[in-house]
Amino acid sequence: MAFTLAQISDTHLSALHPGFSANFEALAEHLLAEAPDLVIHTGDVSAHGEQPGPQGGEDLAFARAAMDGLGLDWLAVPGNHDVGNDPACGGDTPADATRMARWEAAFGPGYFLRDVPGWRLIGLNTLITGTGLPQAEAQFAFLEEALAGAAGRRIGLFQHKPLCEVTMAESQLTYWAVLPGARRRLLGLLAGHDVAFIASGHVHQAQDRGVVEGFRHVWAPAVAFFVGDTWQARMGDKRLGYVRHRLHADGRHEAEILPLPGLQPHDIGLMPHIYGPQKPVAA
Ligand SMILES: [Fe+2]
Ligand SMILES: [Fe+2]
Repeated sequence: MAFTLAQISDTHLSALHPGFSANFEALAEHLLAEAPDLVIHTGDVSAHGEQPGPQGGEDLAFARAAMDGLGLDWLAVPGNHDVGNDPACGGDTPADATRMARWEAAFGPGYFLRDVPGWRLIGLNTLITGTGLPQAEAQFAFLEEALAGAAGRRIGLFQHKPLCEVTMAESQLTYWAVLPGARRRLLGLLAGHDVAFIASGHVHQAQDRGVVEGFRHVWAPAVAFFVGDTWQARMGDKRLGYVRHRLHADGRHEAEILPLPGLQPHDIGLMPHIYGPQKPVAA
């Protein structure tokens, strides 16, 4: 029997946004019927966890309670709306010690390791790699040890940002993917290990291109909202849903992107009260 894992992402939960909570509840109902062995959330669990003042803490607590309410075994890594973004990406909510402490108080460390038959699952916080925070170096050391100790298990990585947009060699610094310097360092660590797939969120578009440059990249759809084509170029499938992974003890892996028609297709471009007006993409 395969180990079944539901990868969910970008729920952007907050008491302020009942429409997003309704999507989460519809997903939760579906998952309860499906009864996966494990749920992994690939970040942006909360809507405004990165905001200073009480709102940030309240949203993280709200999101944590929602995850506990699933009644399923779950793990999570943070997104930029939970701990802030890598400072190199700009913006006025950089990932810093205060934001990390708040996440850790609500959810625990930003990375995780879970062994299941035939597999080692590793979660990474992709928002801190360029911060100089002690957690950043601790995470690289954790990853090195986790890879070295896999003992023949295949490895699945879970992180908020995809490792690249299109190719590992891309050198531009973008909002959507791991920074080029951090990508090189991660690739250096991953080299020689049996990493079967990298499962990510953040883009609010689903994509599974199969194995490219040695890794299968699985981009999860969002749960809360999509970004309309006026404001975000289309790279994948913008329908909301989740990913069902099946992990076989002999190393086979299946991933299925499952749009859920019961989720309301909120377009964040039409909801400027939540994150402000979105910037149209260049024509
Ligand atoms: Fe998101
Ligand atoms: Fe994000």
